Amino acid sequence: MEPPSESSSADTSATPSSSDQTPRRAKRRRVSSGSSSLHGNENKSQDHKRPVHNPDRDAKFLERVVEELQKVAKRKRPSTRSARRPTQWGPVNAKRMLKLRQNAKPPARDEVCYVTCEEAEKLLEPGKFFDGPIVTRNTQQFKWSPLEVDGTPIQQFLNRWVPDLDWKVSVQDSILEKGGTKSSSEEWELRELLEYYNKEVSRHGYRSLNVLDMRNTLPDSISLNFLNGFDTQMLPQVRNQIAAGPSRSLSTGPWHGWGNYREAEKWTLLCFGPAQTLEHEDPLAPDTYLALQKGELGIGWVSRAGEEEVAAFSENPQESDALFPKIRYLRLEAGQTVYFPAGTIHFVFRAKDARTLITGGHVMRWSRIQEWMANTLNQVRHPNIASDAVLPHAEHYVTAVASLVQSREREGRVDEIGGREAIAAFWRLKEEFDELIQESNGDETKKEEEEEE
Ligand SMILES: [Fe+2]
Repeated sequence: MEPPSESSSADTSATPSSSDQTPRRAKRRRVSSGSSSLHGNENKSQDHKRPVHNPDRDAKFLERVVEELQKVAKRKRPSTRSARRPTQWGPVNAKRMLKLRQNAKPPARDEVCYVTCEEAEKLLEPGKFFDGPIVTRNTQQFKWSPLEVDGTPIQQFLNRWVPDLDWKVSVQDSILEKGGTKSSSEEWELRELLEYYNKEVSRHGYRSLNVLDMRNTLPDSISLNFLNGFDTQMLPQVRNQIAAGPSRSLSTGPWHGWGNYREAEKWTLLCFGPAQTLEHEDPLAPDTYLALQKGELGIGWVSRAGEEEVAAFSENPQESDALFPKIRYLRLEAGQTVYFPAGTIHFVFRAKDARTLITGGHVMRWSRIQEWMANTLNQVRHPNIASDAVLPHAEHYVTAVASLVQSREREGRVDEIGGREAIAAFWRLKEEFDELIQESNGDETKKEEEEEE
């Protein structure tokens, strides 16, 4: 039996916020987990199901990645004609990532929760909140076939679960050149990716291919077992509100508002090589989970960012040194899942020989509408902090959430969405959001009129 993780005893007790002040950004309401079972006999009987935080092993992984990055960052630029060529994305990202990595420290006991699936579910009950990553394992009903029968999960995914290898996907390639309007991504067929995967990794040098935002074609049983509670199931209702229109009968035609919805309830992320994702927030302020199906993965985050760090990051994303004292990291291994709350500034790193398959998804929580609204407002004010565009989708999301809040208020179900104070704060923040959008639309109109003149 594995020993219990020290980190699983994280203190999650505190009191809900009752501030009358409208927060500029999500307040870190730390609400009691209320989970005496997390620390009692039930806790002990479930030790074998709990992942273990191993700082020594994580440190070795970090050391290896830092050594590899140092080699890339130190590469001299060619001195002749080629020196005028645009820089590749890989070395540019490596320099910033090296700084983040060199400042990353292991989390303290109360900064991360290593828990069983059942304990994770308790931490995500209505009104409960852990302000940091929750790491768990064996979170899905779905099982991969044995390696000797069908190959690795990546081979099984591409050979069996993707319906057509001719499908094209957007691939971030680290050797693409940066500059002007050039993109860091290009289209690949999945067949080409499978061929690349089947080659020897050593032949690929420091190149990385990162397939982001790929549709998850795995069966529904891949879903996480600890996300079945009511509180974590708000996003599907927001999607229905935005996309399905007024009728809730089964649709026989196209959903009228589908284009206004940003599909992110679940996806797959396939990566070969040392792909680095620099620090960012996920767009439209969701909670996020990453379930690692294959390989090993480094996760870094800014632990409990205060106003100072948030302001520095918002003003100068991916260049601010103010984040360094609060950067923490951990290594995730196949079978483990990390879940972190909305507004977490995070980054992802891999070693040179990485081949990772992740199933991920976004989550919205009914009892966190105030924090969601504050984070979304901050992302609209500072669009560069999110990894993807926030507008125009944010307008549709806010309208949908407002409608759901109104409906809960009408039915007297205010406790489900955080109580009266949280609702009042939500409406104040929404007002600020509406003013911001009006101002920005006014600016756009003025600009267009000036251009016409
Ligand atoms: Fe992210």
